[in-house]
Amino acid sequence: MNRIISFEQYLSEYKKSVDDPEQFWAAQAEGFVWRKKWDKVLEWNFTEPNVKWFIGGKLNITENCLDRHLAERGDQTAILWEPNNPKEEGRKLSYKELHTEACRFANVLKNNGAKKGDRICIYMPMVPELAIALLACARIGAIHSVVFGGFSFQSLSDRIHDADCNIVITADGAFRGAKDIPLKSVVDEALQTCPSVKKVIVLKRTNCEVKMQNERDVWWSDEVKKVSAECPVEEMDSEDMLFILYTSGSTGKPKGVVHTTAGYMVFTKYTFENVFQYHLTHSPSPIGEGSQQPEVYWCTADIGWITGHSYLVYGPLLAGATTLMFEGIPTYPDAGRFWQVIDKYKVNIFYTAPTAIRSLMAAGDNFVKPYKLDSLRVLGTVGEPINEEAWKWYNETIGKKKCPIVDTWWQTETGGIMISPLAGITKTKPGYATLPLPGIQPALLDEKGEELFGNNVEGKLCFKFPWPGIIRTTYKNHKRCFNVYFSQYKGYYFSGDGCKRDEDGYYRITGRVDDVIKVSGHLLGTAEIENAINRHPDIVESAVVGFPHPIKGWGIYAFVIDDHNRKDTDELKKEIIATVTKFMGSIAKPDKIQIVKGLPKTRSGKIMRRILKKISEGDTSNLGDTSTLLDPSVVEEIKQGALS
Ligand code: WTA
Repeated sequence: MNRIISFEQYLSEYKKSVDDPEQFWAAQAEGFVWRKKWDKVLEWNFTEPNVKWFIGGKLNITENCLDRHLAERGDQTAILWEPNNPKEEGRKLSYKELHTEACRFANVLKNNGAKKGDRICIYMPMVPELAIALLACARIGAIHSVVFGGFSFQSLSDRIHDADCNIVITADGAFRGAKDIPLKSVVDEALQTCPSVKKVIVLKRTNCEVKMQNERDVWWSDEVKKVSAECPVEEMDSEDMLFILYTSGSTGKPKGVVHTTAGYMVFTKYTFENVFQYHLTHSPSPIGEGSQQPEVYWCTADIGWITGHSYLVYGPLLAGATTLMFEGIPTYPDAGRFWQVIDKYKVNIFYTAPTAIRSLMAAGDNFVKPYKLDSLRVLGTVGEPINEEAWKWYNETIGKKKCPIVDTWWQTETGGIMISPLAGITKTKPGYATLPLPGIQPALLDEKGEELFGNNVEGKLCFKFPWPGIIRTTYKNHKRCFNVYFSQYKGYYFSGDGCKRDEDGYYRITGRVDDVIKVSGHLLGTAEIENAINRHPDIVESAVVGFPHPIKGWGIYAFVIDDHNRKDTDELKKEIIATVTKFMGSIAKPDKIQIVKGLPKTRSGKIMRRILKKISEGDTSNLGDTSTLLDPSVVEEIKQGALS
């Protein structure tokens, strides 16, 4: 383990990583199981872009997540699982058991026709079988594409289609809070337009009724009986694809972010161990002298998002950690659930989203009081800026001022954490992601694309040197990868975020500068939501913008044009919400809908979102220059409508 243990060491490691990045990352890559060691550490340019790490290396990430640990920690718990319903019994899987199950399910995949390079879509609840499914794919070299269970059939079918998946792994249903979500019937609907899918493997979870299609659909429980638990790993090239994960962009079509094997592995393990300062043994022990138990680490993200991939499954398992997986939601059966689970499993490291913190803070301290929370040692946040009030509450009420908070900035495209404190080592400031990790070279650029040097500057957050976890391509569309991330500022990776560097050189993320919104920490494209709204037969056009929301961070404000002049506007709004839920999923439901006669457009037909954004924020005093609009009078009408 190459864990940094002091701030001085951080500074010296950082310097080493910039002076000689190849040597730095090569050192981090030692200690893994390589079937064949790499010939060359790095080859790169940001003009195509083309980035390759550990060239010529051969390995399998699951050998490093599982097999490598068996001798030393085979009986140690790898995954702890807490179900949605607190009355249902939890589950525990040791490294040995997880290895066995992943191997067995890998054989199930092979038995159902899967081979190296195939794309397999995973649409499942947060149960251990979801992690097993990821590992089984990786073991045989199939590329997993996990779709968050909160997306509905259209989003699912778009993603299956784009990746040309031949197998879907799902469950009959999912328990989320008081709801049962019928996953399999969503899959059935999605597959009506996905002829590439030949097999659907269905796990039984909720016991809801499902229609199984002959030849195509099989039960997980039947299939595992047919195979052995011996499955040698497929030898993968360092740059072979490990997974695709779709993320929203400025257009209606989500981007299939591609991560490859070796770089992602090295980066997630390194960042996991260093940011959270994970201890394999408690020494000194925060939960009792001499305890030899590894720390319990809990990341509350769903595996459907990158945080779940990198810091619930891969990073922790690569590090030999005990990772807790939770099926439910923070407010079920009440807003004390997270705290109850922390006490139940004596969680030492807790990693969650600001939106969850804000909603639990709003629920009141009475939900926290019954719990001790004395096992906690480190707290983390991810996914959106955290406001000072929420940070303080997290620090005082949850961490009892004893737990360092790591505010981790990163993205689906970066594969792992980029800017973050190292727990207990980097001095923190509320609202600041603080400093770049070793190996990460941020740059702030001004409007003209000039790099801003020195402190006390604000600009677009870019990176000027590759790191092992960087996006390699967008699936089947390399041009798009170039256009979105590498074309705006030549020679830089552009994140899409605005950022300040303060007088201490600390980084503070100010938010997105493009047409995507972070709603409850979920990245959603405005165009994708508009497409869903426009599926309503009465809506001819719509424009979606984000507005500041006290709990969700950003809420969704939709301006819609109703072609049929419907008088029952409340009914129409309800229908629009139902339409979005049906086609995209309930995570994309608009918070506010305003029916308008027209949208502010330039003569070339482009919607001026700047104006709509101001109106949605209730700031109509100065809308800036509206003279380039085709019809400036629509602005007045929208303003009036927003006020009424
Ligand atoms: C935002 C999530 C402020 C940011 C891992 C980024 C953050 C987007 C932070 C990526 C943070 C993530 N502070 N903003 N600590 N972490 N973001 O792809 O806008 O779902 O570009 O990856 O989340 O979202 P994604």
